[in-house]
Amino acid sequence: MTTTTGPAAVTGAVGSAHTRVEGVAKVTGAARYAAEVPFANLAHGWLVLSTVARGRIRSVEAEPVRRMPGVLDVLYYGNAPRVDAAYEGMMGRPDPTVAVFQTDEIPCAGWPVALIVAETSEQAREAAESLVVHYDKEPHDVDFFPGRPGSYTPDGDGMRVEKGDVEAELAASTHVVDAEYSTPEEHHNAMEPHAATARWDGGRLEVIDSNQGSTWIADELAKLFSLDPASVRVRSEHVGGAFGAKGLRVHQVLAVMAATVLDRPVRVVMTRRQVFSLVGYRSPTAQRVRLGAEPDGRLRAVDHEGLNLTSTVHEFVESSASFGRPMYAADAHRSVNRVVRLNVPTPTYMRAPGEAPGSFALESALDELAEKCGMDPIALRVRNEPEVGPVSGLPFGSRNLTACFEEGARRFGWAERDPRPGVRRDGRWLLGTGVASATFPVIVAPSTASATAEPDGTFTVRITASDIGTGARTALTLVAADALEVEPGRIRVHIADSDFGPATIAGGSMGTRSWGWAVRDAAIELREQLALGGDIPAQGLTVRSDTGAAIGALAQKERHSYGAQFAEAAVDVGTGEVRVRRMLGIYAAGRIINPLTARSQLVGGMTWGLSMALHEEAVRDQITGAHVGADLAGYHFAANADVPHIEADWVDDPDPDDPIGIKGIGEIGIVGAAAAIANAVWHATGVRHRHLPIRPDRVI
Ligand code: MOS
Repeated sequence: MTTTTGPAAVTGAVGSAHTRVEGVAKVTGAARYAAEVPFANLAHGWLVLSTVARGRIRSVEAEPVRRMPGVLDVLYYGNAPRVDAAYEGMMGRPDPTVAVFQTDEIPCAGWPVALIVAETSEQAREAAESLVVHYDKEPHDVDFFPGRPGSYTPDGDGMRVEKGDVEAELAASTHVVDAEYSTPEEHHNAMEPHAATARWDGGRLEVIDSNQGSTWIADELAKLFSLDPASVRVRSEHVGGAFGAKGLRVHQVLAVMAATVLDRPVRVVMTRRQVFSLVGYRSPTAQRVRLGAEPDGRLRAVDHEGLNLTSTVHEFVESSASFGRPMYAADAHRSVNRVVRLNVPTPTYMRAPGEAPGSFALESALDELAEKCGMDPIALRVRNEPEVGPVSGLPFGSRNLTACFEEGARRFGWAERDPRPGVRRDGRWLLGTGVASATFPVIVAPSTASATAEPDGTFTVRITASDIGTGARTALTLVAADALEVEPGRIRVHIADSDFGPATIAGGSMGTRSWGWAVRDAAIELREQLALGGDIPAQGLTVRSDTGAAIGALAQKERHSYGAQFAEAAVDVGTGEVRVRRMLGIYAAGRIINPLTARSQLVGGMTWGLSMALHEEAVRDQITGAHVGADLAGYHFAANADVPHIEADWVDDPDPDDPIGIKGIGEIGIVGAAAAIANAVWHATGVRHRHLPIRPDRVI
């Protein structure tokens, strides 16, 4: 038995740049992703998706396929195990799509109709491509457009919010902007496609998965299959991107069904094209913004309506109209989210759900208002800084938007900007600059963690966190180092195993804040116990934490991160090509744990904003109801050559109510970035672009 040396006075782990603790394992291929973990006797599932956009399955010709080499089973609605999706999960009621193969109904194109299970994935694929499915087709409707009949305002919280009399304030305003904006269907298509392996092991169900929260997935699988929660273990050690799409999806459910039926490990991996149909996406939006202001730019009215689509089986709201609620003071605010149900797959959370498209509309409209008022766009935003939450009336946790604009303007060289549009040229390029605000809510959710002092002087931290590529594991290592007062190199952080106990998801920008709190609590308690002296037992000394009570006691406040986005665009008026030359984002987003990975995450979000502004657009064919070009060649997004010099930095903004000062940085990088670019394109050309993406054919 060895004794751990007392905590050394090591400080400053949090806030110092640290490469990813699993970086070497990732780049050398030692890190195993969900489809790479080896299992003896593994069988492979291959999905078959519907080719019709609405109707019923008349029959599935399973028998010929069953006789093909290596085929073990064909699962479909006629023989699949029964499941029950009428439950509440950590994220509310599930999309009933997870109750796969329970009915012969087809509500949209790309709906799963069968799973072939075979000895090899090649055999499963060949059989899947040979499977004949007969359908009774019914007419479908996938047509989304502004003012679409059949839309409604959902009942949920915050779908419709009103303060003051918007119509009266608009009527009394000197300057009014009334404009419509739209954003297309967009996809988060992670580098690592969704994959899961399931097996029964000694009466327990074990699932190796790629997800945003193993507690979440384990809980949902237990409920869906009516299992004792203690008998389900989900692990997700490495995740190659997620962005909101990696929750419970059909691949985990089908792997469990097949593993149960065949009593052997089964792996289900989605193809790139299947990912486009099966994991959710960002709904297109049609938005209308009306702003009313005094001659000096003071806002009297902010009115924002957003329409998005959802499927016929589940209501998901891309609440774009909600973006402005924590943003600007105005005598009257009105924001309404509406949806329409079409024969499409259900959309889902995608990085900054609501805020990403909502900020494009409102932050573009503010630029239009600045033009009408003859004001600088930054001065207009500063003029409308609120004292308290503009709609909620709640005090702010902390709000440093103005500091972001001041620092950003200084670094970007905003003071030299000539406000007139269409007057700067560089050869055949017209040049312009634009700004926009960003915001994202600061959320926290209860989590548990454990910290163990090992006899050899090292420490082990366990928490069911998920590192979706953000560097969360590394951030938690730094948090633990500061709390334990030891070097990060003496700490191992194990994550993403539901057996570690409940913890919240990597989503809503709340992962590191929520898990960091729990890790810190456990580590501090452990350090205090160690300070009392005594030997470390052979199995180590373990302390557990649970942040539920502390989080439950938090006072109600308007808690948000803020940011200022700057962009310079060059527009070739001959070809319509838009090139973004530089972007700068300055954020007030809480204490930054690891500047190295934080910067990457923010630059990644801004890159996505650039991609949203200029490239991304999923096109649904009205005739087939399916995507055109559902792959990474047909779905155009920013490539290296499109991405200019992007700088991300932050101002000091520790959250006063978080023990570490964290707010969360997962989503805010994308927010406002597309508006800043659209505003820069206006400044370059004098032409407003209210519909994304700003394609060359729209520019000419
Ligand atoms: Mo994020 S869209 O909450 O994973």
